[in-house]
Amino acid sequence: MTQDQQFIIRGGRILSGTVRVGGAKNAALKVIAASLLSKEPWRIERLPLVEDVLRVVELVRSLGVAVSGPQVDGTVILHAEGEVVSDLDTEIAKRIRASIVLTGPILARQGRVSFPHPGGCVIGERPIDVFLKGYRAMGAEVAEENDRYVVTALGGLRGADIFFPVVSVTGTETLMMAATLAKGTTVLRNAAMEPEVASLADFLNACGARISGHGTPTIRIEGVDALGGGTYRTMPDRIETGSFALMAAATRSKIAIEACEPSHLDALWDLLQYAGVLVEKREQSVLIDATGSAPLAPKNITTHEYPGFATDLQAPAVVFLTQCSGAARVHETIFEGRLQWTGDLVRMGASIEMADPHRVFVHGPASLRGRSIKSPDIRAGMAFVIAALVAEGETTIHNIYQIDRGYEKLEERLRRIGADIRRVTGNQEPVISTSSVADDASYALSGRTGKF
Ligand code: EPU
Repeated sequence: MTQDQQFIIRGGRILSGTVRVGGAKNAALKVIAASLLSKEPWRIERLPLVEDVLRVVELVRSLGVAVSGPQVDGTVILHAEGEVVSDLDTEIAKRIRASIVLTGPILARQGRVSFPHPGGCVIGERPIDVFLKGYRAMGAEVAEENDRYVVTALGGLRGADIFFPVVSVTGTETLMMAATLAKGTTVLRNAAMEPEVASLADFLNACGARISGHGTPTIRIEGVDALGGGTYRTMPDRIETGSFALMAAATRSKIAIEACEPSHLDALWDLLQYAGVLVEKREQSVLIDATGSAPLAPKNITTHEYPGFATDLQAPAVVFLTQCSGAARVHETIFEGRLQWTGDLVRMGASIEMADPHRVFVHGPASLRGRSIKSPDIRAGMAFVIAALVAEGETTIHNIYQIDRGYEKLEERLRRIGADIRRVTGNQEPVISTSSVADDASYALSGRTGKF
């Protein structure tokens, strides 16, 4: 038996009050990686103190970056003044998928980087072909030695015209970072338009980079000799904002979400307003009111790159749909393993049919019941928290390390809006979990077709 931390949640309460959103994990991670591009100090504010971010801070420290902090207020100073290690540790790189974004800055700075394949995870395969294709186009050589990629561009990277066959968020960010110090101009086509990409580009420009077109599918980067210092204030986490909004809606509560950027979530507001939930957008806050007595109307969801419906909100949105009256189809187009977790939601009483690994049909409204479940990844973990808050009785969520990877002090913030949630450390009991059976699509089809 191993020790794990668990959330014990008693559901059935209406929530109310105000919850504050933290800095965006998926923006902070990239700015920390990008600090390797500059020899000047970078100050990052409003860093979310979540597991993934803290591990990447440790990682850049191990590569030679002087790190001061992070302080409790989320301020950290990173200074990559001297020599930088160009070999990524195998253990860490395999554990933290996002470490792939470090390869661009290391290559741009050192003319060489070596790293293992970062590996898949429960949400899907997660290949890295677009990174390698981009490095080759920029004049680097890619070799595979002893299960590691060794990428070399000893004379430095040069600008290139690169088309992404799939829209990749970290692919766009990594090649954009590498191109800031390349000789000549790089054009990235079919680039990701996520706000985190634009936020990174704005900050790199503030440090002396010459990037234009970010926030559109075509990004142009004119290489410069060096980047200077600067201060980055981490943008609000739109996935956290969306998770809280779906939590308010699913529990038929009224919650004000503060310190957020409502304009980043239009696809979600469309879903909630269609359902009959009141969404009042204000400057840097949004009020969600689902306390009305009319049944909630379901709507089909198709996940899509920004500005479409975020795949990272798919799991919380499925829980919301279980509380709507009628059927809705959820089509996960980005990751092939990201609906596996719904098997455990069925164990909580949801009525969900899996048509194939990319599509489920959710029939509501369902009375959810507390169960012992295990969190397979960050977002499904958040979905289970929401389901537990809706459910009658007590739910134990195991493996909440996965939730801590993306949400800072979640239980403290939820208690303030009236949730009955506590964190305990205990022995890990064997939990029967369909989602822990990982990416086996045939399991999903044979074992989970029809109503459960
Ligand atoms: N893909 C390829 N080849 C590649 C790279 C990606 O085929 O070389 C495919 C992927 O398999 C996937 C699609 O492209 O089917 C899109 O993946 P993308 O590369 O955009 O995902 P990512 O950059 O690895 C980031 C976020 C994810 C988020 C996705 C999609 C970070 C650190 N991670 O991942 O966030 O789900 O974009 O928006 O920014 C999370 O926070 O929980 C999380 C998983």
